[in-house]
Amino acid sequence: MKSVIFNQYGSPDVLEYTEVAKPSPTAKQLLIKVFASSVNPVDWKIRRGMLQVITGKKFPLSLGCDFSGEVVETGAKVSNFQVGDQVYGFLSPGSGNAYGEYIVTTPQCISYKPDNLTHSQAATVPLAASTALQGLRNKGKVKKGQTVLINGASGGVGTFAVQIAKAYQAEVTGVCSGKNIPLVTELGADKTIDYTQEDFTENEKQYDIIFDVVGNYSFRKCQKSLKPQGIYVTLTPSLQFIINRVFAFFSRQQSKLLLVKPQAKDLAELKDFIEQGKVKPIIDRVYQLSEIRAAHTYSQRGHVVGKIVLEV
Ligand SMILES: NC(=O)c1ccc[n+]([C@@H]2O[C@H](COP(=O)([O-])OP(=O)(O)OC[C@H]3O[C@@H](n4cnc5c(N)ncnc54)[C@H](OP(=O)(O)O)[C@@H]3O)[C@@H](O)[C@H]2O)c1
Repeated sequence: MKSVIFNQYGSPDVLEYTEVAKPSPTAKQLLIKVFASSVNPVDWKIRRGMLQVITGKKFPLSLGCDFSGEVVETGAKVSNFQVGDQVYGFLSPGSGNAYGEYIVTTPQCISYKPDNLTHSQAATVPLAASTALQGLRNKGKVKKGQTVLINGASGGVGTFAVQIAKAYQAEVTGVCSGKNIPLVTELGADKTIDYTQEDFTENEKQYDIIFDVVGNYSFRKCQKSLKPQGIYVTLTPSLQFIINRVFAFFSRQQSKLLLVKPQAKDLAELKDFIEQGKVKPIIDRVYQLSEIRAAHTYSQRGHVVGKIVLEV
């Protein structure tokens, strides 16, 4: 089957679109024919060697978390899915190989695909929208009427975070560049801040939750923009985060790190939001899997609006 592999860490040029062996499911796994995947920044971070503590130095390595496709085989102990089911989900970053025609995974990592999305649209949802959901609901404890600031509102995670926070009936402020203000407003943001004109920590406004998707604001920098019991959520593990936890210890404000995990129940909740029209994916570009080098080059510039689809 066709897949993308690489034999050394480096630039997009290390990626090879090539033939590999088709995987076989174990008793607890399913074999899924992948119709589409998507690019997440973690994919090119792995390719660059930025996560070597997890990915090691044994090559070739594969890439890709998100997938949308069809169940083509089930292991003997899988009872809740059948051949022919249309499903979507994601593989844990670090061990993903969804840039390929077939994957094996477990029922815990999938849900039925939203009926109102194509496979290309559905493949953009799993990792980014689960990150937004787990960040806001699990870490931020988002509630109706709370004020939520999303830093990086126009990217893959941010476009879902704005819509999910609105689905939880929060009042949302989206931080993005001026050109993306119309999109972030259309997604439901009550207010927007153009980061090229204004630093959101420099005004007097305070929030219940600050979701720093981009990762360029520390907890300490955000403290005066958080309400007395406000929660700061970051996606970036760093020494700075650990040091700032010490400051959080002496405060009623909280600093939390999310590392997203595939959860079938979250994918099912997202399917409901999408079918109810509360959440929709925003697609910037569509590439064929064979164009993976160009797709990575575009993603790593850091200015994707919504998501990049990879058609397999
Ligand atoms: N820990 C986890 O579990 C986890 C999960 C998912 C993602 N992540 C990480 O979270 C980060 C974001 O992921 P993503 O998929 O949303 O990335 P992305 O789609 O590549 O984000 C691109 C967006 O970021 C915006 N942006 C760039 N600089 C900005 C700034 N200074 N202020 C506000 N917005 C800015 C860009 O808008 P402009 O073009 O207008 O600048 C663009 O729309 C990545 O580092 C990713 O690795 C972590």
